[in-house]
Amino acid sequence: MKILVLNGPNLNMLGIREKNIYGSGTYDDLVRLIEETAKENEMMVKVYQSNHEGALVDRIQQAYDDGTEGIVINPAAYTHTSVAILDALKAVNLPTVEVHLSDVSQREDFRQISYAGKACVKTIMGKGFLGYKEAMLYLKNGNEKEE
Ligand code: DQA
Repeated sequence: MKILVLNGPNLNMLGIREKNIYGSGTYDDLVRLIEETAKENEMMVKVYQSNHEGALVDRIQQAYDDGTEGIVINPAAYTHTSVAILDALKAVNLPTVEVHLSDVSQREDFRQISYAGKACVKTIMGKGFLGYKEAMLYLKNGNEKEE
C-alpha cells in the first residue's frame, strides 16, 4: 500500500516548540517512526511537511495521480482555518486519517473546529507520535486492529 503522510506548519519545530504540549521528540524522530512503521508493515510512504497552505494543497492534488492509496494528515494550525485543504482532500477523495499530537478537544475554543476532519474517515488525537502509527495501520487494516 502506498501512502502519503502530510504535516502542516510548525511541525518541523517539534522538539523545540512547546515541549510540554508536543513532547521532546524532533521532526526527524517522527519521520523515523513513520518510515519504520511503513517498513514493518510493507507499506510505501512519502512524508512531506510544509509551513505553506498552498504547498500542502499542491501535494494533496499530486496524490490524485501518483498512485497514493491513503493519506495521513496533521494540518496543524491549518486544521482550524483551511477550507482549501478540506476542498483538496475532498477533490482527491482518498481515504484520509487526521492526526493531532495533542488532544485538541481539551484545548482552546479556536481549536475545536477541524475543517480537514470533515473529509477524514478517522481522527486520532492526544497520542503523540504513536497516533501516526495508529493512523497508518488504520489505512492498511481498517477497523480490524482497533481495540
Ligand atoms: C496540532 C494541534 C493544532 O491545534 C496546532 O495548531 C498544531 C499541532 C497537534 O498535532 O496537536 O500545530 O495539530
